[in-house]
Amino acid sequence: MPRITTSTLLLIPTAALCISVLWAASKFRGPLTLSITIPHGVEIHLDTKQSIIQVAAPKTPVNPLTHPSQQPAAAAHLPEPARSINQALNSFSAYESRVQKTLARKRARFSQVAALHRTLVDSLGYAAHFTRSEAAASTNSQFAAALSDHGRALYGMHRALPSANDVELVDLAFAHLTRDWSDDGAAERVQIFTPIMKALKLEFGENTAGLRVLNPGSGLGRLAHEISQQGYIVDACELDYGSILAYHYLVNATKSTYDHTLYPYVSNWVHQLNPEARYRPVHIPDVLPDPRVRLVEGDFLTEFPESASYDAIVTLFFIDIGQDIVDFLRNIHRLLKPGGLWINLGPFKWGSFAHMQLSAEEVLTLAGMIGFDVDHDSRQSIETLYAHQPESLLKFTYVTQFWTAKKALRS
Ligand SMILES: C[S@@+](CC[C@H](N)C(=O)[O-])C[C@H]1O[C@@H](n2cnc3c(N)ncnc32)[C@H](O)[C@@H]1O
Repeated sequence: MPRITTSTLLLIPTAALCISVLWAASKFRGPLTLSITIPHGVEIHLDTKQSIIQVAAPKTPVNPLTHPSQQPAAAAHLPEPARSINQALNSFSAYESRVQKTLARKRARFSQVAALHRTLVDSLGYAAHFTRSEAAASTNSQFAAALSDHGRALYGMHRALPSANDVELVDLAFAHLTRDWSDDGAAERVQIFTPIMKALKLEFGENTAGLRVLNPGSGLGRLAHEISQQGYIVDACELDYGSILAYHYLVNATKSTYDHTLYPYVSNWVHQLNPEARYRPVHIPDVLPDPRVRLVEGDFLTEFPESASYDAIVTLFFIDIGQDIVDFLRNIHRLLKPGGLWINLGPFKWGSFAHMQLSAEEVLTLAGMIGFDVDHDSRQSIETLYAHQPESLLKFTYVTQFWTAKKALRS
């Protein structure tokens, strides 16, 4: 149904006037049949012989994401990025049932403990873990539901279309929120941000006004925030809607520091030192995200048509994530101004989808072929954890590779 708006209603007198003039004209010129469109798209159909007058409101353009009648019945038919947004939103709203199922499975396994053993374990207070963890998980669920509601309003996707849930998406968002925006993540951030911030300062000094920095694969955006705090104009780019929705929620729905509480370790009961570790709360954000950071949603390979536009590009845990490293390096090179600085820190983990799984040395040689002058003196190996639970008895250390390189001035 076309919508009738206030401006449409104001056109009714105009339409009435037109109709009277035409009707009067028909008295002198004989029967009249015509359809006309007057300003603002109001359509008038007049047939004086059959005494028919129809006035139709304008056809308003419909946003396919917001108008239920225009939404496809199945998520598979949604165009991108609506399909990914829909799936991420569904994953956040499904967190509650998923986490409670995980806890219910633990409870069911516990119910199989032999009666004799049960007496022993009861004195440990083990059974109390189920109610405590369900309560903590409900706090997470409220956060995930509020995040999802915020995302639905932001993207106008009020109706959830059924889709597969990405079970890891919410856990990853919680882990990255913790790493980027809680006190628990501070030690990791210091380790990896310090060399990056130092390299920027070494190159540009204090006079950062007007300098443009790009941070592709920005995740939950803390590095972009830190760079922006130094006065640079920062574009962050991210394509995963788990991260994007969480970032928007953090930026738009945070009134003060430590406004939100999460229990990111609540369903992870392995590698724990003590019974309390799983209920460790994290409070976010430790600082308010810098609203000057511009988040570009989408693929860094396609979202930036303008070449030579950045003074620096900073890649953190990023260059090993794509399909083709040559595409990534060529795009970083293209987007830098001549003489512009590329700072990299990250592992060489390469997903199974990567077309090539090069060593760090091979990547640096490739960078030279593409037109970077690599500063070999800048190179460091930096051992770091990634989104690590502080009390976990499992540690996964990356020996990340740090370097700086410049886009050669020669073509
Ligand atoms: C390992 S995570 C690191 C995130 C962040 N740099 C950090 O250190 O926390 C890599 C990120 O890059 C994003 N990403 C992968 N390919 C991308 C692309 N082509 N354009 C933009 N982002 C991309 C992923 O969605 C993911 O959030």
